[in-house]
Amino acid sequence: MQTIIVTGASSGIGRAISDVLAAQGYHIIMACRNVEKGERTKDEIIANTGNRNIEVAYLDLLSLKSVQQFIDKFGERREGNGGIERSGEGYGGNGGESKLKIYALINNAGAMFAEPLPTEDRIERTLATNYTSVFALTTGLLSFMADGSTIINTLSVMVHTTKIDRNIFDIPSAKEYKRLNQYSRSKVALMYFTYELAKRVKDSSVGATVSLPPNISVCATDPGVVNTGIITMGNRLDPLANIFFRPFCKKPETAAEITLRALRHRQNSFLYKGHHSNLPLPQLDEEFSRWLWNETATFVEKTGRFCRQLQE
Ligand SMILES: NC(=O)c1ccc[n+]([C@@H]2O[C@H](COP(=O)([O-])OP(=O)(O)OC[C@H]3O[C@@H](n4cnc5c(N)ncnc54)[C@H](OP(=O)(O)O)[C@@H]3O)[C@@H](O)[C@H]2O)c1
Repeated sequence: MQTIIVTGASSGIGRAISDVLAAQGYHIIMACRNVEKGERTKDEIIANTGNRNIEVAYLDLLSLKSVQQFIDKFGERREGNGGIERSGEGYGGNGGESKLKIYALINNAGAMFAEPLPTEDRIERTLATNYTSVFALTTGLLSFMADGSTIINTLSVMVHTTKIDRNIFDIPSAKEYKRLNQYSRSKVALMYFTYELAKRVKDSSVGATVSLPPNISVCATDPGVVNTGIITMGNRLDPLANIFFRPFCKKPETAAEITLRALRHRQNSFLYKGHHSNLPLPQLDEEFSRWLWNETATFVEKTGRFCRQLQE
């Protein structure tokens, strides 16, 4: 049975993705920050699809420690020592699931915070959720991926609205902070990560000292504007948006279909509105891209182990 990890599977697009994958018979690990909510969603998915091979695992992308625990539990489970973290408890130890390999990692979870507060790792929360923790999770899980597996990162049309530079890890003051701009910056950083990862995974399979599973594809998708929780601004405009904006947004099911096209395609690519194209990095700065990778690795290594064989 092929295992797919979907982050942020408890609601929105992640839930819709899990629905489709469950109907197709995959083993799904729903990586959720709210396990109770995840369990409720899981029960509904099982009731709808009859696929009982679905589980919920605790993952809070606001914490690099939680990301590392998720990775460790997955590794332990393969060795038969326990299970994936669930509300702080291990579960699922079954004497070793040595064939448990990740067929796809769908980095779907995302957030946009109204205020610029740092996480315990001293990273601004939107950047932590949408970028640094995705970097940590993905590089940490790489050695558990199956041959020919796929990594899918979720971008946004907002990547077209901003650029990032070497102050990306500075925490903005409340006065200068603009939540949409910070969200866009986090997605641009994720786009650079997608670009670098695709390059490094490819290079590492050729003559690397430590071999990674071959033929990993790294994709990014932009689901378009979708009627989900993330577009709620938490202000007085929400009721108006509910009437005049939400009805014209895509349904989560349509967005899920776009993401899952990347899974079928299984080649490094970017899917914009469901069509293949190049990553929207018009003025790709290779030096900056390498700098960003190295700086992020430094942050991640303070808390966890990061896939060193990808380092240049
Ligand atoms: N909706 C759009 O218009 C749109 C457009 C472009 C890109 N996207 C991207 O699509 C992805 C899915 O978003 P969505 O539209 O489905 O929004 P959503 O309904 O708000 O779902 C976001 C998911 O991420 C989870 N999440 C948030 N913070 C987390 C954390 N710290 N740790 C683990 N999980 C966390 C949420 O968990 P809870 O269920 O506990 O809240 C939820 O399941 C995001 O990456 C978003 O940036 C969305």
